[in-house]
Amino acid sequence: MSADPASVPLLSDVLADWLRAAFRRALPPAADDYASIGVVSTTNPEFGDYQCNAAMALAKALKQPPRQLAQAVLDQAGPHPAVERTALAGPGFINITVRADAIIDLAQAQGRDAALGVPPVGRGQTVVLDYSSPNVAKPMHIGHIRSTIIGGALDRLHRALGYRVVADNHIGDWGTQFGILIRGYRQFVDEAALREQPVEELERLYVKSYEQSQADPAWLDACRQELVKLQSGDPENLRLWEQFVQWSMAEFERVYRRLGVSFDLVRGESHYNVKLPGVLATLEQHGLVKESEGAQVVFLEEEKLPVCIVRKRDGGFNYATTDLATVASRVEEFHPAKIVYVTDERQQLHFRQLFAICRRLGITTALDHVWFGLMRLPEGTFSTRQGNVIRLERLLDEAEQRALAIVQAASPTMDPATQRDVARAVGIGAVKYADLSQNPQTQITFSWDKALALDGNSGPYLQYAYARIASVQDKYAERYPGQDPGAFPLQLTEPIERVLALKVTQFPEAILRAAELYRPSVVADYLYDVAQTYSSFYQNVPFLKAPDGVRESRVRLCGLVARVLRTGLDLLGIETPDRI
Ligand code: ARG
Repeated sequence: MSADPASVPLLSDVLADWLRAAFRRALPPAADDYASIGVVSTTNPEFGDYQCNAAMALAKALKQPPRQLAQAVLDQAGPHPAVERTALAGPGFINITVRADAIIDLAQAQGRDAALGVPPVGRGQTVVLDYSSPNVAKPMHIGHIRSTIIGGALDRLHRALGYRVVADNHIGDWGTQFGILIRGYRQFVDEAALREQPVEELERLYVKSYEQSQADPAWLDACRQELVKLQSGDPENLRLWEQFVQWSMAEFERVYRRLGVSFDLVRGESHYNVKLPGVLATLEQHGLVKESEGAQVVFLEEEKLPVCIVRKRDGGFNYATTDLATVASRVEEFHPAKIVYVTDERQQLHFRQLFAICRRLGITTALDHVWFGLMRLPEGTFSTRQGNVIRLERLLDEAEQRALAIVQAASPTMDPATQRDVARAVGIGAVKYADLSQNPQTQITFSWDKALALDGNSGPYLQYAYARIASVQDKYAERYPGQDPGAFPLQLTEPIERVLALKVTQFPEAILRAAELYRPSVVADYLYDVAQTYSSFYQNVPFLKAPDGVRESRVRLCGLVARVLRTGLDLLGIETPDRI
């Protein structure tokens, strides 16, 4: 396999370059908006394989009829070795049909490449990815779970593109809640419960102490004193705090292990405490802070954003101050090309304010907030009174149990240990895929039927498709021992074969696009499309009964599809057992 993935070109890039040159020749020199000219793959083969709609936008700017402009571009384009034919359609679309041998060359090159043609566009660049980031002494809520799953996929996608990723779990391990918690701990702790389920007990203590603080001013004052003691380094309170952090981390770690997620750094908010006074000094140097009602604030009127408090009336720093210190520290330590935050939608304002202040401080690093809606869960199943707090471990347990029933039905003769292992991969994969396959910015509802459906857009469906392909390859190997289908050229004789091979060549585009848009769902949609196309290919053309050479070509194409599915699912953090 070649070690240089850059040697596999992307068809969409090749075609876009070709048309861009034609636009340049067809248009007056003043019209210089060429960068945006691109092609997209079509969904309907009637429109060819790729389509360019740039003529419409440019014609508008130039006040020319778009069809006339598109025709002029086609006249200028001349032949291209990868293009079979072009057509002008509708108001000015340029439809392109690719030559079968161009598809074959590309698919074969992709097959020789360990990265399946995914280009290392991120080589030499660092991305700091801030995700999961739950809070100590509280269970993860659905927002943290989605952040963990979506962030985990973005992590893998960026690494596949050659970026150096610094995955940083920005744990919420500091703040006023610790005064309340320590006070509650001292008064109400149930040692047995603490040993059994420390985080649940901590949560109970917090809630109880918080309620009391609302009703009783003396209690509130006692909580404040515990906090002051902690902040000024009282050894007893520090020891308690460390203990709380450890208990919570142990629980988070268990979840991460089950989800197959790991971090390069776990720096809690407390890590930045020492830097907070410096942040305020820097803001002052830039003339950005003003006093307002006793607090220090940054006005963000120009950005049409509400004021951002950076130091509270009581002298305490807050979430925004910590995040400012965190950005500065990451920029200095890692020199990242971008810093990406993955949280639920409720933090949009916080990050807009944060980014605006960073700009004013002259920080040029790209800063992106990837947000998602909160998933709705089946009524009653996992929700506690807050609605969004679920016991993730119970959800995963149930997923594995339900998957075990599916595996037992599909493979009754498989030994029980393997069945359990496969069920684990299928159950966890189903939960992850249910999350990743959705547009993250829409409100979604989790449903077991959908997540586990073997005949719909689900993780198990894709895992099953993969396992079926693997078994075709096994059958071939049994019948033709020692024969390597890879030694035979690909042939695209049937239309469905051509469609499938073309889709295989679009794998790198899906990965690039998903990372660019921060949307793992682009990969999920792509994989589902490939699996469906494969399924109609498999049902409609003979495999093992096909003539010599054609058979090998088909098995070879199968092998490519299998690699695309396995690699794509792996980039989503989903395993692919060989059998289900
Ligand atoms: N701990 C925060 C929360 O649970 C999320 C932190 C996100 N990352 C950050 N750098 N602010 O709401």
